[in-house]
Amino acid sequence: MKKSLILTGMMGVGKSTIGRLLAKKLAVRFIDIDKIIEKQEKKSIKKIFEVFGEAYFRELEEKTTLKLIQNKVSVIALGGGAFINSKIRREILRSCCSIWLNLKIEILIKRYKKNNKRPLLDLKNLESDVKNIFQARKKIYAQSNFKINCDNMKKEEIVQKILKLNESY
Ligand code: S3P
Repeated sequence: MKKSLILTGMMGVGKSTIGRLLAKKLAVRFIDIDKIIEKQEKKSIKKIFEVFGEAYFRELEEKTTLKLIQNKVSVIALGGGAFINSKIRREILRSCCSIWLNLKIEILIKRYKKNNKRPLLDLKNLESDVKNIFQARKKIYAQSNFKINCDNMKKEEIVQKILKLNESY
């Protein structure tokens, strides 16, 4: 593997779960950017948003992501908004292999209802918030090297598909 593999897509699509499995198969390091930020700040992402605001988080996200994608070859799970940052996106498109994991909005909404640790989503306006975020981001996610519609796929199938795409890349 010559380039790092970057997983992007909406919150809750499975970037971290798939990334961890993938890294194991490829025997490379797995990096979960949000986890690194939480460790650094000794706070959950939700708490960082609450205490310091989104702009502060986005700065940390940019700094941390740019640093780590230049490091040795790895599998990296981005936060759902990271690829929207043009500096991060440009660097990833230049030097990595990027994969957009996509899921139907209805499936995402079900996942968010089960777990509300996401600062950008308010359960009161969940459906419209998710639709608006997805609408604004889908063209940008689509700039990734590959897109996988994960709707009816098992985790293992998604991992196998990425391994194949990565071989052909
Ligand atoms: C965000 C996604 C989250 C986290 C933050 C913002 C986003 O990561 O970075 O809450 O803007 O989509 P996950 O995609 O891992 O949930």
